[in-house]
Amino acid sequence: MKIQILGSAAGGGFPQWNCNCDNCKGLRNGTLNAKARTQSSIAASLNGRDWILFNASPDIRAQLESFEPLQPKQGKRDTGIAAVVLMDSQIDHTTGLLMLREGCPHQVYCTDMVKQDLSTGFPVFNMLEHWNGGLVWNQIPSTDTYNEFTIPEVPGITLTAVPLRSSAPPYSPHRNDPHPGDNIGMLLKDDATGRSIFYAPGLGQIEEHLRPIMEDADCLLVDGTLWREDEMIHAGVGDKLGVHMGHLPQSGENGMIAYLDTLDKPRKVLIHINNTNPILIEDSPERGVLAEHGIEVAFDGMSIEL
Ligand code: MLT
Ligand code: MG
Ligand code: ZN
Repeated sequence: MKIQILGSAAGGGFPQWNCNCDNCKGLRNGTLNAKARTQSSIAASLNGRDWILFNASPDIRAQLESFEPLQPKQGKRDTGIAAVVLMDSQIDHTTGLLMLREGCPHQVYCTDMVKQDLSTGFPVFNMLEHWNGGLVWNQIPSTDTYNEFTIPEVPGITLTAVPLRSSAPPYSPHRNDPHPGDNIGMLLKDDATGRSIFYAPGLGQIEEHLRPIMEDADCLLVDGTLWREDEMIHAGVGDKLGVHMGHLPQSGENGMIAYLDTLDKPRKVLIHINNTNPILIEDSPERGVLAEHGIEVAFDGMSIEL
């Protein structure tokens, strides 16, 4: 199974257009050893031709141009995107659907909660009805702890959706009333080899039901948004804590690093990194700490072969 990292940054990307924090400023003026990153999305394929796109980011146009296997191959209009899977209804994960309008209809897989948000607070399903069949909804089950399903357009990969406790976006009609399916993690397993990867760009807390999945996966591609819980306040750019945004920070006694340390088998990669996070600076002490713990930082253009 091939996994391509199309966008490794959190909402806003890196640098963020209106941000003058030390990271964004340092990247712009060339004083920091860091790479620019686009917003959160990955793609998976077995044959290198038919891809499942996980999340459709506002930067999708540049992401498609940067990765040849997703580009047209046959006829006058074509794409390597066979289906789109959404992990939540956040802007950084769904706005790209609007940019894909010329290629409708698209097969879109998401939970009923995400479908509801995208038909009300941010009604992209309704809007795109006006483009040649629009978005064809395929429901991802989210009532059980582990919800297995397959995508006929890309046979040979078994997906397992795992509900994650988090909150829906500000425009969701049930923003203050969390439901299973607002946010999911996804295990992808190659049926032929049994090799697997767990993808969870938004992981606010590591609930018990994640343990068996995270222990057994060959690779983890998990929430790298924040180094510290009060990072936005510390950087002087906001007032939200990690807990409000549904993102577990890396540092601290109960942080992501401490948890990943308890897992022996998987390769560990952080993704969905916010522009304020010091791990973006390749020679920062924080990046050194990750290296000591055997944790990698995803970058745009990174390929993972399983
Ligand atoms: C998040 O996951 O918290 C986001 O990246 C927020 C956003 O898209 O604005
Ligand atoms: Mg996000
Ligand atoms: Zn910034």
